[in-house]
Amino acid sequence: MVFSKKIKECDLVIFGTKGDLSKRKLFPALYQLEESLKLYKNTKIIGVGRADWTQEYYKKIIKKYIKKFSYRKFKKKIWKKFSNRLYFCNIDVNKFSNFLKLKKIFKKEKKIKIYYFAIPQNTFKNIFKGLKKINYNYIQDRIILEKPIGNSLETSKKINNQVGKYFQEKQIFRIDHYLGKETILNLLSLKFSNSIFFTNWNKSTIDHIQITVAEKIGIEGRWNYFDKIGQMRDMIQNHLLQILCILTMSPPINLQSNSIRDEKLKILKSLRMINEKNVNKNTVRGQYKSGFFKNKNIPGYIDEINSIKNSNTETFVSIKVNIDNSQWHGVPFYLRTGKRLPLKHSEIVIYFKKNDFNLFNNFKKKLPLNKIVIRLEPNEGIDIFILNKIPKLDSKYELKEIKLNFDYKKTFNKCTLYNAYERLLLESFLGSQSLFVRRDEIEESWKWIDSIINAWNKKKSKLELYTAGTWGPKSSNTLLKKDGRFWNKIK
Ligand code: BG6
Repeated sequence: MVFSKKIKECDLVIFGTKGDLSKRKLFPALYQLEESLKLYKNTKIIGVGRADWTQEYYKKIIKKYIKKFSYRKFKKKIWKKFSNRLYFCNIDVNKFSNFLKLKKIFKKEKKIKIYYFAIPQNTFKNIFKGLKKINYNYIQDRIILEKPIGNSLETSKKINNQVGKYFQEKQIFRIDHYLGKETILNLLSLKFSNSIFFTNWNKSTIDHIQITVAEKIGIEGRWNYFDKIGQMRDMIQNHLLQILCILTMSPPINLQSNSIRDEKLKILKSLRMINEKNVNKNTVRGQYKSGFFKNKNIPGYIDEINSIKNSNTETFVSIKVNIDNSQWHGVPFYLRTGKRLPLKHSEIVIYFKKNDFNLFNNFKKKLPLNKIVIRLEPNEGIDIFILNKIPKLDSKYELKEIKLNFDYKKTFNKCTLYNAYERLLLESFLGSQSLFVRRDEIEESWKWIDSIINAWNKKKSKLELYTAGTWGPKSSNTLLKKDGRFWNKIK
């Protein structure tokens, strides 16, 4: 069945309603969209789970999630409107006949169906079959898949093939929530609408780039998931590589989804392979041990609930990455991400090359590199560090590094900084794929990641312990130090 193109209204079905993602992100984001008047009038939000819950009980639980995790103040009037959209559907995905229950909720209304898979990947196959059974996957319907898709190139291909049997690429929305962050979206405008940046965004002017995504939290009771995945697959394969792609890609021919994704793919294809020969030189893997930070005892990774004491899983990674194309050849990119670091802090730091000749040699022997710091979190903004003459009456050129600062909240004080899930859910309702990841991007990034993980396994790469509340293993500093560089100091 194909509806007329005029039909835009949709229903959202969330598989995995009881999970952490639904609780912390999806329902709060949907409630926020309700408050912003962004939900279609008749959209139903159907939570699927295996529980004997009444509709009232389900609504009570969702209300609790929203009160706890929404950044907006809870308002009774908004909740009333929102709760009227909520339906709970008790489905055991192994029993295809259970899917008939969805039919009763959908009724015969002509609406696009969006299926959000916030559920382990080994259940996908049965869900597809169940939906097929009740004839609920039409060409206008969509499916949203959470990352990581698989845990290697092979497994991600398997999942993509499986999904591909039931849905076409234009129906598949692979989420990477970092692509929905305002500061990441702004990278395109920063680079391509400002000629001072556009003309300087390459190896002739840039010395190196650092990307840090630091988390203060540990694994928050997700040991069973995390221990099989590790920080490399949980964060680098998706979030950090996507940031790197957006940051370094050439201008797309237009802003349509495939044009943007084509350019990102080129970057992924240009990543220099890290293998057994160069893995130790270019990567650092760490795991946090217990620490005492800000008057608190913090448990080590192997002390977390449900842990296995001899786990070899990394909770910290830093990597030196090279992009072998004509724009970036010779510019190193240093990526680091870890759990139980001192702060929740994400930033991109772009260091510009030093001047060949120092005119101010008599006053300042070594000129620091100019840098741009793009802060993703907290206090989203951009700082540009330049040298300035200290105002004085004498004729000396005393130079001081100063900061030109742009702060989102101050500059755009009348605008809301929407969170990533609000934006991405809305984009999926509108059917726009530009903020979602295409199959070939996922597979290309796995190719690169697999090579590193295989090299780690073959070389039995050392897992370095770092104390919770610090910036990771010492070797992470050495990675830069041996190139005569340092991580940007984060305060
Ligand atoms: C998720 C990872 O994708 O991103 C988590 O699975 C991580 O381990 C989270 O904590 C970080 O997201 P954010 O938006 O809080 O930086």
